Amino acid sequence: MDRPIGMFDSGFGGLTVARAVMDLLPAEDLVYIGDTGRYPYGSKPLGDVRAYAAELARSLVDDVGAKAIIVACNTATAAGLDELRSELDVPVLDVIEPGARAIVRATVTGRVGVIGTVGTVSSGAYVDAVARTGAPVELVSAACPGFVEFVERGQTTGDEVTVLAERLLAPIRDVGIDALLLGCTHYPFLARTINDVMGPSVTLVSSADETAFAVRDRLAELGLLRSDGGTGQHRFLSSGDIDLFRDLGGRLLGPELAHTERWPLADDITTNNTTNNTGDPHATT
Ligand code: DGL
Repeated sequence: MDRPIGMFDSGFGGLTVARAVMDLLPAEDLVYIGDTGRYPYGSKPLGDVRAYAAELARSLVDDVGAKAIIVACNTATAAGLDELRSELDVPVLDVIEPGARAIVRATVTGRVGVIGTVGTVSSGAYVDAVARTGAPVELVSAACPGFVEFVERGQTTGDEVTVLAERLLAPIRDVGIDALLLGCTHYPFLARTINDVMGPSVTLVSSADETAFAVRDRLAELGLLRSDGGTGQHRFLSSGDIDLFRDLGGRLLGPELAHTERWPLADDITTNNTTNNTGDPHATT
């Protein structure tokens, strides 16, 4: 039995990346944690988000033996992965570098935009990542508070989403960009509305596919790709309501998400010592 790829997000957003990884690497086992018990990350201090990310990544390595970690969350990536990378002895991949590569490739005019959570945009992580590509592009950024909450409620279209999108996207629409990076993994679920608001002259770019390619290349380079011809098994865990995670997650990701397990938060562990009887706080049965 090969070791799985571990990935996490604050909730449902990282499923956009999980979908791309599952489609590109169907032989790989995957374990996904949606930290819905603590979402949203985007409005929290980056130090808190960094601590959550460390806890989730550590659990994926120690409890399920992940051979690589995908941080399928821009905000957690923006909070800083250096510490995580130096502490873990498995590769840690993120969504911001691949997103930056994808947006500079998509533009013709060199005027591009990125939207993300308050945490991601205020960190300047995309400005830095785009600068590192060396491409001569001008990047305009806008935070979209409220988008993630709509997705987490399963409300991905409709008047309320459109009204909010009109208001938040107006400044970025008016500066004449030709490509817009969805710099939050939740946002591809709102692509229809965002596309309607931005108009046909703006190409929407998500980091999901580019991240999946980066994962494939990195695992291949390290000799970690599964090569026994098997079919990947997929596990989905949530720190929040696992029934909601199964129902909405299945609708957003597809039939592979038909079952959800509990990923216990530290509070659950101290208040409920019947969570598991293995002695391992994050073991799932
Ligand atoms: N999906 C996450 C991201 O890419 C964060 C959403 C949130 O919890 O605010 O930034």
